[in-house]
Amino acid sequence: MESNQRKWWKEGVVYQIYPRSFQDTTGNGVGDIQGIIKRLDYIKSLGIDIIWLCPVYRSPNDDNGYDISDYRNIMEEFGTMADFDQLLAGMHERGLKLVMDLVVNHTSDEHMWFQESRKSRENPHRDYYHWWPAEKGDPPKRFSYFDVDGNAWKYDEQTDSYYLHYFSVKQPDLKWENPKVREEIYDMMHFWFKKGVDGFRMDVIPFISKDISYPELPEEYNGNFVPFYANGPKLHDYLHEMNQKVLSKYDVMTVGETPGVDRDQALLFVDEDREELNMFFHFELMSLDREGDEVFWMRSDPWKLTEFKKIFSDWDETFAEKGWGSLFLSNHDNPRTISRWGNDSPEHWNNSTTMLQTFLLTMKGTPYFYYGDEIGMTNIRFDNIEDYQDINTLNRYELLKQQGMDLKTFIENEKEAARDNGRTPMQWDDSENAGFSKTSPWLKVNPNHKTGLNVAAQEKDTDSVLNYFRKMVQVRKDHLGLVYGDYTLLLEDSEKVYAYTRISDDNKYLILLSFSTEPVTIDLSNEGFGELHLIISNDSSIADKKDGKFELQPYQACVYRLR
Ligand code: NOJ
Repeated sequence: MESNQRKWWKEGVVYQIYPRSFQDTTGNGVGDIQGIIKRLDYIKSLGIDIIWLCPVYRSPNDDNGYDISDYRNIMEEFGTMADFDQLLAGMHERGLKLVMDLVVNHTSDEHMWFQESRKSRENPHRDYYHWWPAEKGDPPKRFSYFDVDGNAWKYDEQTDSYYLHYFSVKQPDLKWENPKVREEIYDMMHFWFKKGVDGFRMDVIPFISKDISYPELPEEYNGNFVPFYANGPKLHDYLHEMNQKVLSKYDVMTVGETPGVDRDQALLFVDEDREELNMFFHFELMSLDREGDEVFWMRSDPWKLTEFKKIFSDWDETFAEKGWGSLFLSNHDNPRTISRWGNDSPEHWNNSTTMLQTFLLTMKGTPYFYYGDEIGMTNIRFDNIEDYQDINTLNRYELLKQQGMDLKTFIENEKEAARDNGRTPMQWDDSENAGFSKTSPWLKVNPNHKTGLNVAAQEKDTDSVLNYFRKMVQVRKDHLGLVYGDYTLLLEDSEKVYAYTRISDDNKYLILLSFSTEPVTIDLSNEGFGELHLIISNDSSIADKKDGKFELQPYQACVYRLR
């Protein structure tokens, strides 16, 4: 099978919802499932086909739902299973597909399995998790993302043993090496598929397989634990087994979250003939402006457009014959798209928002938008640590404090880098809590909802970024060549313009995207393009000078059809 075979999940546009922050209907300051139901017509009106819903399962919320205590129940703050069923039915009535989050590298420590497992060394659930008996001495170092000491082994007095937690102490890692664990997970996946869900986004999926002799971090990893975590010995056996026992039985989509996975491993996951997953989210772009290790990273110098282009071009090449890519510029673990990859100054916010929308919707791969991207939501940039809610920022702050490091620099860093930038409540209107809630939300609302950055204001304005988004989604739908056409990079060395063609059968498109704050002229006369027909631009100035040259306004985007 080759990568251009038509599939609904290749042609669809995905909208990711962080349910805590989308719409509160109960007045407790936390978003809920009824809130999503209320907004389904809005989502449909955007042209979206697929919703990826971050975890809504029962959870004590140590990591906002990524710590699950019951996989077959709904988080009380979000509603009930009846609400969920209503949501799914409401989506299907509107032709929307639902992709759930599958978090199975770890559970919550409040999951019944772990509660049992920690009771005694003989407990039938003991072997559901990774334990290291204390009489063997200190366990070999493992790093934890969300541990104040960065230590992934936690001593548990009850059985005089340590358990493994790659994330917080309340997120013990499941032991996939135990076939019972795998069967439990596959059963649970069947449970959701039988309800009718249309796919899963799989949280840190490359981490599930572990070397259970727990060796010292092998030298080849040179202290860099992420690729080690991602390279477990049985990973692909498990994914293939999951595919055979569950995924292959339904018409569903899968997208793995894959830290530590490089391009040379890519096809192991998504080559159709290997029967594992459909797509994954690589981490190369998200590391472009960061330095340090995964626990202790800071933002680095500004990124370069040539590097950005190279990442997208290289990954496109990876999937040229087999597999399929996923395209995203942000998610709930990252700052806002416009603040990071565009320019959120008043002068350039509008064009840079729509330029980046144009980019994702004209590249090859499935585009994923994060709630609020359609109206150009930006980083909130908190001044005080007290405003943060995210365990990641709070723990890293504690760690730095203990080490006597410079906390002011850290706060400045987090203004651009923290996950909470991407988790502020959806901006529906200019009222007190942005129409998100009747009460103070769990995380502060960005004050710029008062100055036009909200859905209601942008609905009224035909030239708003929201309405451009709708038009641009329609352009992708009207031109299958923008989904399947081959991608070729032009002007590789330009630090100002990202230019490429997409070519399929008789259809040929030229896409020009300015990443510059100044007008910029480019010369494509050597390409011999012939007649150009402008399909859409985010700026009223005519860029085409009719002689193979183009003058692009700051952050202008143009999509042409070539004849
Ligand atoms: C990745 C998720 O996207 C992130 O939000 C979460 O904190 C970790 N995995 C742990 O589940």
